[in-house]
Amino acid sequence: MRIGIVSDVHGNLEALNSTLLFLNGRIDFLAVLGDTVGYGPDPEDCIGIVKTKANLILKGNHEQGIITGNYTAFKDIARTSLEWTARVITSNSLKCIKEFKETAELEDIMFVHAAISSPLFKYILRDKDAMNEFPLLNKKICFIGHTHIPVVYKNKENKIDLIYPDFSGKMEIEIGEGKYIINTGSTGQPRDGFPFACVSIYDTEKHLFTLHRIEYPVEITRKKILEKGLPSVLARRVVQGI
Ligand SMILES: [Fe+2]
Repeated sequence: MRIGIVSDVHGNLEALNSTLLFLNGRIDFLAVLGDTVGYGPDPEDCIGIVKTKANLILKGNHEQGIITGNYTAFKDIARTSLEWTARVITSNSLKCIKEFKETAELEDIMFVHAAISSPLFKYILRDKDAMNEFPLLNKKICFIGHTHIPVVYKNKENKIDLIYPDFSGKMEIEIGEGKYIINTGSTGQPRDGFPFACVSIYDTEKHLFTLHRIEYPVEITRKKILEKGLPSVLARRVVQGI
């Protein structure tokens, strides 16, 4: 089975559409790892698309913020964009995001937005964070998002290896012995210095994980962010990939 993985779309319709076009014909199953809304200018369209295309949709901390109306855990920019998002999405979409799951499993794979110990909120930022998660992982691989920075943590015999993308922001990893926590980066707001949308494919028969980077019409997204009155720093972020 070829599993496509998209995470942290954050209302970026252009990134989502270009990513799905790329995945067309390349995958058998689509997993969306949360934060489909927040920051970006097209939350309603993005919810509509993932609802139709994805086989599995997880809830992220931004969905949780919209559902609870409690934004105290968010920084100013995130809170402003979430308040805007809550105003523009329809009651149907709100109902829909309430049904998104917090974790999911498929064969020997687990999916979660942030961390196994805290599916919506905890940031896995370094090997020490990952080390605390591996004892909780009953599967071979856990795919995560949340930090918007792609990285692979490999755990074998009490040791953690970190594998980063190459100089083009891409990765191709053969899954071998041990367990893996794989952050697939962000489709709609990458923060690793590459503005290209992150999208991953895991081939369960070949045991091959590939992170692709997709060009998309970012100038359209940038303009929409400004036109809709969202914080201007968000427009700069999508262009610079930071
Ligand atoms: Fe996010």
